[in-house]
Amino acid sequence: MPATVVVGSQWGDEGKGRVVDLLAADADLVVRYQGGNNAGHTVWIGEQKFAVHLIPTGILRGKLGLLGAGMVLDLETLIEEEAELSSRGIQVAGNIRISENAHLILQYHKLIEAEEEERRGKRAIGTTRRGIGPAYEDKAARRGIRMGDLRDGDTLADKLDAVVSYKNLLLKNVYKSPTVDPDRIYNDLRVMWDHFGEAVCDTSLIVRDALERGQKVLFEGAHGTMLDIDWGTYPYVTSSNPLAGEVSAGIGLSPKLIGRVVGTAKAYTTRVGAGPFPTEMEEEIAASMRDPGGEFGSTTGRARRIGWFDAMVVRKSARLNGMDSLAITHLDELGQFEEIPVCVGYRCDGEAVSEFPNQIEELARCEPVYEKVAGWRTDISEVTRFADLPEKAQGYVRRIEELVGAPVSHVLVGRQRGQDIVL
Ligand code: IMO
Ligand code: MG
Repeated sequence: MPATVVVGSQWGDEGKGRVVDLLAADADLVVRYQGGNNAGHTVWIGEQKFAVHLIPTGILRGKLGLLGAGMVLDLETLIEEEAELSSRGIQVAGNIRISENAHLILQYHKLIEAEEEERRGKRAIGTTRRGIGPAYEDKAARRGIRMGDLRDGDTLADKLDAVVSYKNLLLKNVYKSPTVDPDRIYNDLRVMWDHFGEAVCDTSLIVRDALERGQKVLFEGAHGTMLDIDWGTYPYVTSSNPLAGEVSAGIGLSPKLIGRVVGTAKAYTTRVGAGPFPTEMEEEIAASMRDPGGEFGSTTGRARRIGWFDAMVVRKSARLNGMDSLAITHLDELGQFEEIPVCVGYRCDGEAVSEFPNQIEELARCEPVYEKVAGWRTDISEVTRFADLPEKAQGYVRRIEELVGAPVSHVLVGRQRGQDIVL
């Protein structure tokens, strides 16, 4: 299929970076459609670790990367990411295009988010504090600054004037915190335009042309379905729609042209930030997995919360995304267990629950129902064919497939390129 979406089916960090990197080898174009630098997609090349936040992961394969209209961009981060990649031999200049419709994350977004998280106290969402939510708020409130606004100095000054005077009122009177200087923001943005201006365009046209020429386009989802603002565990979600359907609006592409949806899921579950997490494991077991699995946020460095595989979560994701197949990652991390609990359903107030609840108050009352699947107790990180996996590891994968209702297309057994099994 020429247009493929890779989407996270849990709470982010499913290994989308690794799966995109694998599929990007065969793609012409890799495109981000939502989110911002709250994402952290990690790829190891030999002993070198690369974590990209805004630039599509395909850049590591030398593929043209598009930053789509549905994204929110912190240009300071983008310039740092570009410099970091370039210093390590990855050519970025000339290899990215940025949608003129993408919204910008500005200094006041980060300040306001920090204030709001403090103010929420024990109801804090545990955001990445990258200004994501406030930037999407401004987009919805129709006062955002978009990439295309940087093109003309007068337009930019005019728009900034209006929005900054409003933000300063808030900062001064509501949050009692220092205000921001519109001239500084203006000048910084003009410098950014000098740097990135040539890459700014209507990226939807590039996607259209590529598909018309029969090229392969890969859409790189960020975060995960459970962090989707409409379908995730609201309000403990991000402020965009990671769902595959967002490719259409976030890129400007007919939904009829999205050919294939590959869902990614860890062989267990993790989440960073607050919110209910039915299969969260005891901290003692989680601690034993955290170091070997590298279970620390690649954006914020926070220790991830870890739980058993939850089929209720991934089944809901399979339905919402229309998953054609599932890529299971980090299977090797389960090698230490004699028996592996898999959540096959929930019970709430003594009753069986058939669908993952939309309301977190209900989710918080759900008790996971576990089935114990036999563990394989061996190192599988060198296996490259499904048939060569220990029978019990095959059994684990097949059971997930059955519970989720989507065929498994990939199994990843290590962080290095090549440590993957294609079915
Ligand atoms: P990748 O693409 C894991 C989580 C944050 C927080 C919530 C809201 O690497 O899978 P935000 O800053 O987006 O307003 O925070 O969403 N979150 C992620 N968790 N992986 C991600 O991205 C995430 N992006 C956001 O931890 O709970
Ligand atoms: Mg991540």
